[in-house]
Amino acid sequence: QKLDLELAAIEKGGYDHFMLKEIMEQPQAIFDSMRGRLDLEKLTITLSGIEQYAEQICKANRIVIVSCGTSWHAGLVAEYLIEELCRINVEVEYASEFRYRNPIINEGDVILAISQSGETADTLVALENAKSKGAIILGVVNVVGSSIARLSHAGAYTHAGPEIGVASTKAFTAQLTVLELIALKIAYIKKSIDDDQYAHLLNELNAVPDKVQAILDSQIPKIREIARKYKDARDFLYLGRGYNFPIALEGALKLKEITYIHAEGYPAAEMKHGPIALVDENLPVVFVATKDRYHEKIVSNIQEVKARKGHVIAVITEGDEVSKQLAEDYIEIPEADEIVAPILSVIPLQLLSYYIGVERNQDVDKPRNLAKSVTVE
Ligand code: G6P
Repeated sequence: QKLDLELAAIEKGGYDHFMLKEIMEQPQAIFDSMRGRLDLEKLTITLSGIEQYAEQICKANRIVIVSCGTSWHAGLVAEYLIEELCRINVEVEYASEFRYRNPIINEGDVILAISQSGETADTLVALENAKSKGAIILGVVNVVGSSIARLSHAGAYTHAGPEIGVASTKAFTAQLTVLELIALKIAYIKKSIDDDQYAHLLNELNAVPDKVQAILDSQIPKIREIARKYKDARDFLYLGRGYNFPIALEGALKLKEITYIHAEGYPAAEMKHGPIALVDENLPVVFVATKDRYHEKIVSNIQEVKARKGHVIAVITEGDEVSKQLAEDYIEIPEADEIVAPILSVIPLQLLSYYIGVERNQDVDKPRNLAKSVTVE
């Protein structure tokens, strides 16, 4: 038994939990997901699976993204990315809903599956149905040779390495990275973005691993302090707009999974249609409020929460003095184009859930009732 314990400690690479180890591995996982694909000197993206189907993707009427859980949140980010960069209509579906509702699928439709394990039953069956109706199935999968990878016509693997923690962390940021590459590749082929923007975004993406490292190196003490302050909260609200809206959802999901605190994620502007009724002096509200085209709007949402005595925790862009003044607590992340910002803004939210879970003595690697890979309905 002593040997087992020692082996477990070695596997965790000196960290207390797999979850923390995997959060810390993200600069590498993101880098590995771009390695051999993004060439900054030649300004090229190599994704052979996607290239093979480029013509069909470019002329697709729509792309339907099918996934579950955290992978579904990656799909929401991809919807914004592909619509903006490639000007192709995108729909994001919960696999469990899509498979049962007799969806309209035409020959030549493109279905994009996102899955860490490649074994999620709902996703797999949804894809089988779509494939039998003549759709092209593309996969963004982490586990090589998994069922979804085998069923896909083509795709691009994420290279996050094995993920042991039940709640997904590094697989998510690796998914976002590969989805960015796919969107940029298609946009380049379709000429739906100009050369300058393309070059700029390649540079932005390439800079992400170092920026993630900078967050991990500088923000943990602050996040631990916030975790201690709010560990006994009963509910949390997470708000974001645009590319950061799916990150608000992911932040809330991570908190539920790891700490068992009730949390809801919402588009910040939608707050006035319901969640604002919850705001009082007991409610912590996490704003994902990095500098982007919606920034002024989210600042007024922060003010609305403050006016109702809610506690504002804000993830902000480094040097944003206005937001620093407004927020009760803030976590700073490096400046980045809004298109790659979600890969950065999710990092503090993963850490916040982790440290609140640790403060509450939860089994953060194996939360109750959850499974790493859901191979049954
Ligand atoms: C489970 C896991 C989640 C994961 C989801 C989808 O619920 O606990 O972390 O996001 O399944 O899994 P997949 O392997 O398809 O990405």
